[in-house]
Amino acid sequence: MTEIRLPEMGLVVLVGVSGAGKSHFARRHFAPTQVVSSDHCRALVSDDENDQSATADAFELLHHIVRTRLRRGLLTVVDATNVQPGPRAQLVRIAKEQDVLSVAIVLDVPESVAKARNAARTDRDLPEHVVPRQRRELRRGMRDLHRAFRRAYVLTGEEIDEATVTYERSWSDKRELTGPFDLIGDVHGCRAELEELLTRLGYVIERDALGRAAGAAHPDGRTALLLGDLVDRGPDTPGVLRLAMGMVNAGTALCVPGNHENKLVRALRGRRVTVAHGLAESLEQLAAEPEEFRAEALSFMDGLVSHLVLDGGRLVAAHAGLKEEYHGRASGRVRSFTLYGETTGETDEYGLPVRYAWANDYRGSAMVVYGHTPVVEPEWVNNTLCLDTGCVFGGRLTALRYPEKEIVSVPAHQVWYAPVRPLEAEPPASRGGHRESGVLRIEDVEEAVETRLMGRVNLRAENVWPALEAMSRFAVDPRWLVYLPPTMAPADTSSLEDHLEHPAEAFAAYRKQGIGQVVCEEKHMGSRAVVVVTRDAGVAAARFGVDDGTTGAVYTRTGRPFFPDPERTETFLARVRAAAGSLFEELETGWLVLDCELMPWSAKAVELLRRQYAATGAAARAALPAAADALARAEARGLDVGGLRGRIERREANAALFRDAYARYCWPVEGLTGLRLAPFQVLAGEGASYATRDHRWHLEAADRLAAADDLIVSTRSRVVDLTGDDEAEAVGWWRDLTAAGGEGMVVKPLGPAPEGRLVQPGLKCRGREYLRIIYGPDYTEPEHLERLRQRSLGRKRSLAMREYALGLESLDRLAAGEPLWRVHQAVFGVLALESEPVDPRL
Ligand code: UTP
Ligand code: MG
Repeated sequence: MTEIRLPEMGLVVLVGVSGAGKSHFARRHFAPTQVVSSDHCRALVSDDENDQSATADAFELLHHIVRTRLRRGLLTVVDATNVQPGPRAQLVRIAKEQDVLSVAIVLDVPESVAKARNAARTDRDLPEHVVPRQRRELRRGMRDLHRAFRRAYVLTGEEIDEATVTYERSWSDKRELTGPFDLIGDVHGCRAELEELLTRLGYVIERDALGRAAGAAHPDGRTALLLGDLVDRGPDTPGVLRLAMGMVNAGTALCVPGNHENKLVRALRGRRVTVAHGLAESLEQLAAEPEEFRAEALSFMDGLVSHLVLDGGRLVAAHAGLKEEYHGRASGRVRSFTLYGETTGETDEYGLPVRYAWANDYRGSAMVVYGHTPVVEPEWVNNTLCLDTGCVFGGRLTALRYPEKEIVSVPAHQVWYAPVRPLEAEPPASRGGHRESGVLRIEDVEEAVETRLMGRVNLRAENVWPALEAMSRFAVDPRWLVYLPPTMAPADTSSLEDHLEHPAEAFAAYRKQGIGQVVCEEKHMGSRAVVVVTRDAGVAAARFGVDDGTTGAVYTRTGRPFFPDPERTETFLARVRAAAGSLFEELETGWLVLDCELMPWSAKAVELLRRQYAATGAAARAALPAAADALARAEARGLDVGGLRGRIERREANAALFRDAYARYCWPVEGLTGLRLAPFQVLAGEGASYATRDHRWHLEAADRLAAADDLIVSTRSRVVDLTGDDEAEAVGWWRDLTAAGGEGMVVKPLGPAPEGRLVQPGLKCRGREYLRIIYGPDYTEPEHLERLRQRSLGRKRSLAMREYALGLESLDRLAAGEPLWRVHQAVFGVLALESEPVDPRL
């Protein structure tokens, strides 16, 4: 009985003359969607599965389906005669392109059987000569079958009916192993450092009779994972192999091969290889070992699988890294990538090949951990990490604890081997990625962002592209651009006669949503500012990849820098940093993102003020007195000017109020003198987004900052119990604030919203005088108010909600240490939404 072994992911090519029973066989062993038949494709493109004129189109379709399925990692069975080598080669080529294995199954039935069956068929009307010709072609091509396919099964007679199909997982598929792992970078014969690192990681080294390390186990059952290049260059390649083999045999370690193992295997096999790059040392050291050990080491190295996919697909280990399309695949190309990486074909000034920076382009969700290219400091690039810290060159031997994402390393005992290229000189691009690579690229822009709060938030392409364009021209260094604040909607239009906005509506709205407590926060009249501040330049470099000496950023709600000069930004940040000293410690973070208001308003909006508000005010104040004067004189002459004079006089008074309204928010600034920062939320720090914490916590933190430095001011607030009778008092507070010229207040749910409930994060209630700036000097005139009451808030609310969801999403992604491009997808989403048409006065 023949057992047909098939890869779980791969191509199966059925081969046989017409009537051989291919379709029958396919139906028995495979699901209908796994089988792509030429007859079916012919029918799809011609409505007639026997229409030979459609053959070329049918095969084009067939190839397309095969390619697509294989790219998606699906087992695919081709049901066509495939008796000629040409068409078979085409299929094998497609499988190779997709880096999967292919297997042929030949159904070799006698001519008489096929003929008899075809005669009985109603779906076929074959000319006499067809089957004999097909058989001749099949015979002739039989020899190359075994060369072209990974495996070829030729079934005859009873074998066809009796054959069974079993599946083999790809060797690299070790999804079921969940670790925890300790991944270890290039060892290169540094046995003592390896022992030290393992011990530091908590492994207990086992020794043989001669006292040599021959194994190691972790009391918590952790698994070490050696990332290849165990051998060459260093002082004790046999010692490293002995320890590694002992661990792998005992199941306490896994190992992938490096290019040095690959070459050593060939050298030990007696192949002709150039003895360079430390190979001589290995060969010499191994020559001193018994033959038995050499044989064992050879079979160990030779049996290593190119890469490993672990922990349900969340972790991929490969010596030189691996691009996403190759994860879990098998081909020469994949193996070569895992051993050497890809090169660009160029060489650098040291004569070494320039590597293709695959990590820059990596967008996969699996974490890829690798070695191969020495780096001074391991750094995350798009969810990939290189752990080769050049131990043999006098650097360090480094491990990553997974899933903890913790780096542990031990220094090299000495420089064991002089590098061709100094470690520091390694060009960032060839490390497999440059830090800047993490930022969003045009290809990453999608027309929807998946958020935890609201599911998919759709964006319009026509808004996304300009946002990206504007950002690339005007925004702060994108590596600081980790959050943009959402817009905020006003409460429902007031039911009071002379008001547009009033707190009663905000309270009512939250009460209706079942929220018991809200906080009223004074609304500062300045400009929204996001402050990203790190503890020091070290954190800026390590966490944000910014190593130009800047330690943070202060930017507007569209991502533009507040201060034109970096010096002023740094002085400003130094003050915030000093004030936040205890907060850094308490939150155990090296950086913070703060949501703030920066005053005065004139600091940012000076042009708007000059052109729009000051001009309006000045024109009104010049024209209206003249008009009033003319009307007064006309009336004195006995003319009846009706109500016109009274109206003009009221407008004159309104114009004065208008001017007073905006003038309150303008004052001169010199350097930092005159600036005021009012933080009202601590958005995120290392490992945590605080955005949904109780607002009392945020305001307390802000108070502490304000107490430390008079550049920083508190935000006045009060908590209102919506089930009690605090409301009247809160309304009074709002009246006092706004009567004194305040902008108004924001009402926010005190704590996080009930799970699964979409609640506006805040509703603004602006003061009557402040709204004069927005709606014009005369907006309080009854005829205008009447009209303005019709304003519609739906769009603004929806926008605020979606931007809020995106904002939380970017903070979550940031806190979780996701790659910057993922954070940016949400950040740019906010910016794109901001281009949606909404009444700007809301
Ligand atoms: P198939 O339709 O499976 O043959 O069998 P095929 O190889 O795919 O042929 P082409 O290339 O598409 O023309 C042909 C006929 O023989 C019967 C099938 O039911 C069908 O009617 N058959 C097949 C048997 O009776 N017994 C078998 O073991 C296989
Ligand atoms: Mg068929």
